[in-house]
Amino acid sequence: MQPKPNIVHLPVYQPGKPVEEVKRELGLTEVVKLASNENPFGCSPKAVEAIRRELDNVSIYPDGAAVDLTAALAKKLGVEPDQIIFGAGSDEVILMIARAFLLPGDENITADQTFPQYRHNIEIENGVVIEVPLKNGTHDLPGMLAKVNPKTKIVWICNPNNPTGTIVTHDEVEWFLSQVPPSVMVVLDEAYCEYVDDPSFPDGLALLKKYPNLVLLRTFSKIYGLASLRIGYGIGRPELIRSINQVREPFNTSRFGQAAALAALEDEDFIARCRKANKEGLATLRAAFDRLGLPAFPAYGNFIMVDVKRPAQEVFEALLRKGVIVRAGHKLYPTHIRITVGSAEQNAKVIAALEAVLQEIAVKV
Ligand SMILES: Cc1ncc(COP(=O)(O)O)c(C=O)c1O
Repeated sequence: MQPKPNIVHLPVYQPGKPVEEVKRELGLTEVVKLASNENPFGCSPKAVEAIRRELDNVSIYPDGAAVDLTAALAKKLGVEPDQIIFGAGSDEVILMIARAFLLPGDENITADQTFPQYRHNIEIENGVVIEVPLKNGTHDLPGMLAKVNPKTKIVWICNPNNPTGTIVTHDEVEWFLSQVPPSVMVVLDEAYCEYVDDPSFPDGLALLKKYPNLVLLRTFSKIYGLASLRIGYGIGRPELIRSINQVREPFNTSRFGQAAALAALEDEDFIARCRKANKEGLATLRAAFDRLGLPAFPAYGNFIMVDVKRPAQEVFEALLRKGVIVRAGHKLYPTHIRITVGSAEQNAKVIAALEAVLQEIAVKV
């Protein structure tokens, strides 16, 4: 029995190393994981309460259409309920978009170092990935536009970009949308948008009103702190969302995910506190990198990518031995590591560990 030839080469997803595994393997009692852009402050206590309340209903299927959550979110965002689709994380929305829209040979344009799930799902559908190099770690929208041709089906823009953390601005995205043929879908992945307070950051919802080929992706995994409950969403025009809904599994999001997301939406104080702590954490990390002479990309989400000027894998392993898990392995950035912004305590730990590790490993010239 043979699998589809186009999936044979696909890697099995390598997540950030789990804390328990690192503790076990290295005999450590304290491990800080700053590798998967999770929220170091957990989630809103209101979400925890909502999860507890749902415990009585575990034997009952969830509402496949997530009607209550959709209505609340639509109201909050100022869109119609039929403009929203929920997925088991925005990962699943990416999968559903690929499944609903891509035919074999359809071209997709992405950055050359970006969130890997775009390529992964494109390849499963036998689509073609056209990569456009980042410029200074930032999406090169004119470069991406230059690759658009009659075979182009979807352009994927990750903003802030994972892993570099950079953004493209409202004006840049608007210019891009005004130039792209309306038959080409533009997916703007805003998984980290709630962290961004830069005034030039795109107002995706305003752009959506003007450009019917735009789809926004967002998630409850990041600032809302619900990563394990797998709940994210897409926003677009109703006809497009309907097509995505047609390939959705009947019960793709859980009762816990829906209930927690609904409660989390109401806790704006929690979000404001996380945004503030993240900003302070970014400033602390950046100041430390400056002191250590390590250049970092501008960071707008809850992570920062820094050039440690040494082989990233070696630095990753040395940090691991000190009980700190970060992310390395970015093909085009062999001397960069990506660090999630943690709590003040976690940030201090990663800085101290990094400082010690830099002494141990020679600079790569
Ligand atoms: C840019 C980006 N998009 C989407 C996701 C997927 O998030 P989730 O499936 O948890 O919503 C992530 C997760 O790291 C991400 O970084």
